[in-house]
Order: sequence, then C-alpha cells, then structure tokens
Amino acid sequence: MAFLILVPDFRTPAWEKEFKRLDPDLDLRIWPEVGDPDDVTFVLSWKHPEGEFLKFKNLKCIASMGVGTDHVFRDSRLPKDIPVTRIMDPFMAQCMSEYVMLGVLAYIRRYDDFRKLQAAGKWAPKRQRLAEKEQVGIMGMGRLGTDVATKLTVMGFNVSGWSRTPKTLPGVVSYAGNEQLKGFLSGATILVCLLPLTPATRNILNRDLFFSLPKGAYVINAARGAHMVEADLLEALEAGHLSGAFLDVFQTEPLPENHPFWRHPAVSVTPHIAAVTHPKKAAPQIYDNYRRVMAGKPPLHQVDPEKGY
Ligand code: NDP
Ligand code: OXD
Repeated sequence: MAFLILVPDFRTPAWEKEFKRLDPDLDLRIWPEVGDPDDVTFVLSWKHPEGEFLKFKNLKCIASMGVGTDHVFRDSRLPKDIPVTRIMDPFMAQCMSEYVMLGVLAYIRRYDDFRKLQAAGKWAPKRQRLAEKEQVGIMGMGRLGTDVATKLTVMGFNVSGWSRTPKTLPGVVSYAGNEQLKGFLSGATILVCLLPLTPATRNILNRDLFFSLPKGAYVINAARGAHMVEADLLEALEAGHLSGAFLDVFQTEPLPENHPFWRHPAVSVTPHIAAVTHPKKAAPQIYDNYRRVMAGKPPLHQVDPEKGY
C-alpha cells in the first residue's frame, strides 16, 4: 500500500513534509528509491519517464501533480484502466487569473513601454488602451478560463470564451466548436489560451489562427508550449499583424538560451509560473484520493482519458 512521489525533474521536500503531516504512518516512497515495485498502489506524478508505470502491477491511481495531465497521457505505454486524476484547486484558478490580468493590464497600460522609457531616463506619457474597447477572447472555458473570464468582466473588459460545448456565464459571449472558432477570433483584440493540451489542440496557435485575429491583437499563452507554433508567432509579430505576446509556456522548457523570444522587444517571457501547485493547499485532496482508492472507492477529480482532460 505504498504512496510513491514520482517527479524526476526536481526534489519534493515540501510535498513529503505535507504527506507526513497528514499521515505520519504513510508508506511514502520517493522515486527512484521505490523499494519493491509491487508495494506501489498510488503514484503522485509530474513528467514521469515513458513506460515507468508498467513497473507497478498493483497500481490503482495516477495523480497528476498539476492541473494539466498531458504529461501523463503522452506516454504511449500508459497502462489502461488506471484512473488519472488532476488538481482542482480554487487557489490555482486565482493564481491563473492574477497572471492573465498581469498580461492584460501590462498591455493596455503600456507597461513595457514605460519600463523601456524608464531605462532611457525619459518622461514620455502615452495614452492607455481602454478596457471597454478591448475584447478578451479566452480559449478554454474550464476551471481556469471561467475564473479569468469572470474577473475580467468585473474589470470592465468585453469577454468572450471558446470551448467545445457552449457556456452560460454572465457578461461572457460563448462560442463553441470548430465551426465558431473563426467568429470568436475575429473580435478578440487580446487572445488568452487556457486550453488543455490534446491531439485536437496541439499547434492550435498557428499562422492561420494569428492572421484570423484583428490587426494589432495581443496573445497570452499560459496553457502549454505545444499549443503554439512558435515560428508562426514570430512571423505574425514581424509582419506587424500582432502587437505582442505574453508567454509562460514554451515548446522546449527551460526556454533555450538562444531562443529569439528572450530578446524579442514585443515578447514577454515568464518561466512556467502562471499557476504553480502549492503542496500545502493541494496535498489534502491528493491524500483524500489515496484514502478513497485504498478503501475501494473511485478517486475524485478524474480525467476522461477519451477527451484527454
Ligand atoms: P479544464 O479541463 O477545466 O477546461 C478545459 C477547457 O478547454 C474546457 O472549457 C473545454 O471545453 C475546453 N476545450 C478542450 N478541448 C477543446 C477543443 N478541442 N476545442 C475547444 N475547447 C476545448 O482545464 P483547466 O481550466 O483546469 O486548465 C486548462 C489548462 O491550463 C491545463 O490543461 C494546463 O495545461 C494549463 N495550466 C497551466 C498552468 C501554468 O502554470 N502555465 C497552470 C495550470 C494549468 P468544454 O468545457 O466544452 O469541455
Ligand atoms: C499545471 C501546470 O498544469 O503547472 O498545473 O502547468
């Protein structure tokens, strides 16, 4: 009945402390010190090596350490019929809303321009863009997109959302499905991507999409780097069709040293920090799922493997 933390990329002392606090008797293993793989019944994972789960023949649940689960489903040797869960945490929605708001406000208040003017020691007022004239188009109206949309309407922005199925949210115009994508894009002066990464959404932020936005549009991607064809973004910026981009996620992370985004005057780069899972806030729901699974109950917050989110 062991609980394994399987995170190859970084150390996890804060997580270990939280689970030990919740259950001092928990049989906690930290990958790669797995012990007997047959003991492992529950795995908390982030970016596991391909095929790794096949080693645990008594595995009953794979819990993603994040909101997204694309890092689980990309494994072509993922065992079938093991439930995969995700984090569902209002704190993460709050963090994502702060991040998107930061990008949106930096754009309409021309913050990048003022930083450059400060560096040059120049006092040069510029007119702001008006919230009421901007249409923020949010791709992905799930837990995160809905929170962002609600907060932006309170700030006085026009907001629209695009999802697979239509939504009813006060003050937000809903577009659904591929047939309504072009209509959604044609009005979006600020585009925000908060989609899950699935075969249907991979490379969705491409040349065709960028040139379907109004001239001068601004793009914020806080979902996954693989949503975006990066060369197409650069082309749309160079052509003057887009005015800028605010990016948290990239095709390759960490963003390579020589990547043009680092020094592009119209691109802001952050290192995948829009909404980071907080061990203290998220550990209780993961531990609760461990208890449920051990008691023979289905875990909460399961992802639909068919949809991939
Ligand atoms: P949800 O699963 O709650 O919502 C996903 C939304 O995307 C739904 O509205 C869904 O439509 C829509 N969608 C999915 N596929 C399509 C499609 N093919 N066409 C149109 N709409 C589609 O996800 P969350 O809001 O919780 O999270 C979104 C993503 O944000 C995560 O998957 C993750 O990749 C990313 N993320 C990034 C973080 C960061 O720090 N940068 C932090 C946390 C998450 P419908 O409602 O109709 O099903
Ligand atoms: C997540 C992330 O999906 O941090 O939680 O990207």
